This record gives sequence, structure tokens and C-alpha cells, in this order.
Amino acid sequence: MRPKACIFDLDGVIVDTAKYHYLAWKRLAKELGFEFTEKDNERLKGVSRMASLEILLSVGGIQIDDASVKEQLADKKNTWYVEYISQMTKDEILPGVEDFLKMLKENGIKIAIGSASKNTMTILNRIGIKDIFDAIIDGTKITKAKPDPEVFLKAAQELNVRPEECCVFEDAVAGIEAAKAAGMKVIGVGDPSILKGADKVIQSFVGQGIELIEF
Ligand code: BG6
Ligand code: MG
Repeated sequence: MRPKACIFDLDGVIVDTAKYHYLAWKRLAKELGFEFTEKDNERLKGVSRMASLEILLSVGGIQIDDASVKEQLADKKNTWYVEYISQMTKDEILPGVEDFLKMLKENGIKIAIGSASKNTMTILNRIGIKDIFDAIIDGTKITKAKPDPEVFLKAAQELNVRPEECCVFEDAVAGIEAAKAAGMKVIGVGDPSILKGADKVIQSFVGQGIELIEF
């Protein structure tokens, strides 16, 4: 079976923005007086901004009950993150991604973005590939974060295809769970020992052909 549509997560699948998220969270942790390691950062992948802050605070053993203080901290992190991504260039599209997207279009497959990030449009504009997508569902259009399937179900709806006709590309465990909960096929991008729930796992898009999405 070949899906009619592919839905791509953005951070860690199309671009390696995980490093910028990490830099900004690490900077916030430092201000709060503790170290935040790369291993801790794994837990934030695919997770919404506020949920990420909760994890960061628990790593630092810090309890904050005031919601407005939490908002301020998340805003601070986001301001630094936006500074980093505002310098991004087309070169930061991960290897093989653009060719793979073009190949899908040539084969009549619809393509969409399904991301938790509220900075999706800023990134897509920076790297200049916004127009290739038939639909873009991002953090500004959803109310429930991954592993809830909302983001992918909305993308399918906008593409006018049924969930079972979609294949999702994800680098995060929460995203794989979301795709499964949506009733979609899912291809993990990254380490197979972490992305266990995926139907297939690839290390990169380089050299991948249409057979990748045949199940
Ligand atoms: C996801 C990232 O794509 O978006 C997470 O993997 C991030 O690390 C989340 O927290 C929300 O992003 P933003 O840009 O809205 O803070
Ligand atoms: Mg991701």
C-alpha cells in the first residue's frame, strides 16, 4: 500500500533546530542555577513549549506555582530561540530532504507539515521551502500537544485524505505515539533504539526513493 499523503514533523526532521532549542533551554537553566545536559534535552523533543519548561524545572528541582512566572520563563527561552533561528539559512535543511519532497510531489503524493512549534512559519520562511507544502499545521493551530494526534488529524483533514492514507515522518517518541494514535503509518528519523514504535526507521533522507513509503 502506498499512502496518498506524507506529513512531516519540522524540528529534527526537516531541519536540525533541536540544537537551538537546546542552547536556549540550557541558557535558561544556567540563569536558574543548574546545568541542563544533552541527555536531559532528549526528553524535550517533540514536546510543547510549556511542557518542556515543566520538564526543565523538574530536572533543576525547582518548583514554581505562579503561572505568569512560568509564562515569563518560557517567553525568555523563546526570545533567545528566535534569535538563533533568525540566522538560519537554506543550508540548514537536513541532507536529502529537498530531493525527497520533490520526488514525492512528482509521484502525486500530497505533503504537509505537522509540527508543535509556534515558530514553524519563521523557520520555513528562513529556509525558503514553505511553498512546496500543500498544508501546514503548526503549534498556532492546535490545542493539544503530541502525543495527542490532533496535529496529524488536522493535517489529513486539510489535505482531504483519510488518516489511514497518511504516512508521518518523526524524530521524537511523542510524535510517533501521536501518529499511531491517529491511525497513520510512521517512519522514524534517527536512532532505531529510541524510535521503537515506528513502522520503519531511517537515519537520513539521502538516497531514499518512493519504495520507502510502500507498506
Ligand atoms: C517541537 C520541538 O517541534 O516544537 C520541541 O521538538 C519544541 O522541542 C516544540 O518545544 C514547541 O516549539 P516552539 O518553537 O513553539 O517553542
Ligand atoms: Mg521533531
